[in-house]
Amino acid sequence: PFTIRISCGSFDDVHTAPTNTLWYRDFGYTGGRFANATRPSFIVPPLKTLRYFPLSDGPENCYYINNVPNGHYQVRLFFALVADPNLDSEPIFDVSVEGTLFSSLLSGWSSDDEKTFAEALVFVQHSSLSICFHSTGHGDPSILSIEVLQIDDNAYKFGSLWGKGTVLRTTKRLTCGSGKPAFDEDLNGIHWGGDRFWLGLKTLSSSSDDQPISTENVIAETLLAPNFYPQSMYQSAIVGTDRQPTLSFEMDVTPNKNYSVWLHFAEIDNGITAEEQRVFDVLINGDTAFKDIDIIRMTGERFTALVLNKTVAVSGTTLKITLQPVEGTHAIVSAIEVFDIIPAEMKTLTQEGWCLTLSKLSSLYFKQ
Ligand SMILES: *[C@@H]1O[C@H](CO)[C@@H](O)[C@H](O)[C@H]1NC(C)=O
Ligand SMILES: *[C@@H]1O[C@H](CO)[C@@H](O)[C@H](O)[C@H]1NC(C)=O
Ligand SMILES: *[C@@H]1O[C@H](CO)[C@@H](O)[C@H](O)[C@H]1NC(C)=O
Repeated sequence: PFTIRISCGSFDDVHTAPTNTLWYRDFGYTGGRFANATRPSFIVPPLKTLRYFPLSDGPENCYYINNVPNGHYQVRLFFALVADPNLDSEPIFDVSVEGTLFSSLLSGWSSDDEKTFAEALVFVQHSSLSICFHSTGHGDPSILSIEVLQIDDNAYKFGSLWGKGTVLRTTKRLTCGSGKPAFDEDLNGIHWGGDRFWLGLKTLSSSSDDQPISTENVIAETLLAPNFYPQSMYQSAIVGTDRQPTLSFEMDVTPNKNYSVWLHFAEIDNGITAEEQRVFDVLINGDTAFKDIDIIRMTGERFTALVLNKTVAVSGTTLKITLQPVEGTHAIVSAIEVFDIIPAEMKTLTQEGWCLTLSKLSSLYFKQ
């Protein structure tokens, strides 16, 4: 796959441990300044510099990356803080890709691993990619790294809205039962998977009685197109217990949007060896998304991956996934992914520039 990684603010190409990843020296930016970076969290790539866009420098705060072969891409941006004790530390800003606003940093982002990056899945159609940062009047947008990683043309094909008319923003990506955060690279994934970041959970909620399990058995049906999920994701899971047979996971979301939910299963529990020993329903915000899931029946074997996806419209501010046993005792889940489905803006570059100017002007206005 085609891959570009940029170390923003750097004058030299950089290689980072442990995998000797190559980050190109900074290019493609329209403005801004370089500075030393303070990485807010350990999942952020170990790069030393960043680019930031002071409001006073004008409205140009984009990267235009050219000569990108048309195709489907994971675009990931890591954020960091300018290493200067005199600066008000945490900037709040919005990010767009190809003219589509897809991420708004929220106050507190720099102390939450999952919020130190923004990720979108987009189609590149004219051999170039634009990424822009929109000030909201709270500090100068600052960016540590840009990754443009080609993925399968059909990756995350969730249904009829999928395609060039939508951008998927990664909202949540959990690997259950391991407790350790990991990139695909750490899980022996392959590059067509796009080096996803998985937050590791040992329990689905701090107040619940579910429990982690794991196996070293080989898992079948992994690393398959179009999503190339690594085997390790299925070698751990969270299961219900006698005290809490139902599993549930709840997250905050922006209301009135469509979400694409991907659920991963494999029967890795030694206590379950045949069909009908574990059957459960999956409810999303109370509505049945999948009925009578029997992993062994659906995959034909134990230790075999099962991936299901469902598109849901959410009107409120929470998305709650409930796995409710029907037969047998407990529910099980290996991993959960949630994407925000964003209608793509079909804007021209000129229009994007104009919008940027407007957003700059309005933030200037609100500052005074
Ligand atoms: C970044 O830090 C290095 C020392 O580690 C220093 O020499 C350099 O001047 C700093 N650069 C900026 C832009 O502050
Ligand atoms: C996602 O779900 C849809 C609708 O059930 C299905 O048609 C599609 O094949 C699924 N996608 C993948 C990649 O499994
Ligand atoms: C959600 O999807 C439906 C089609 O299933 C579409 O009509 C609607 O406009 C979408 N809503 C948003 C907020 O994108």
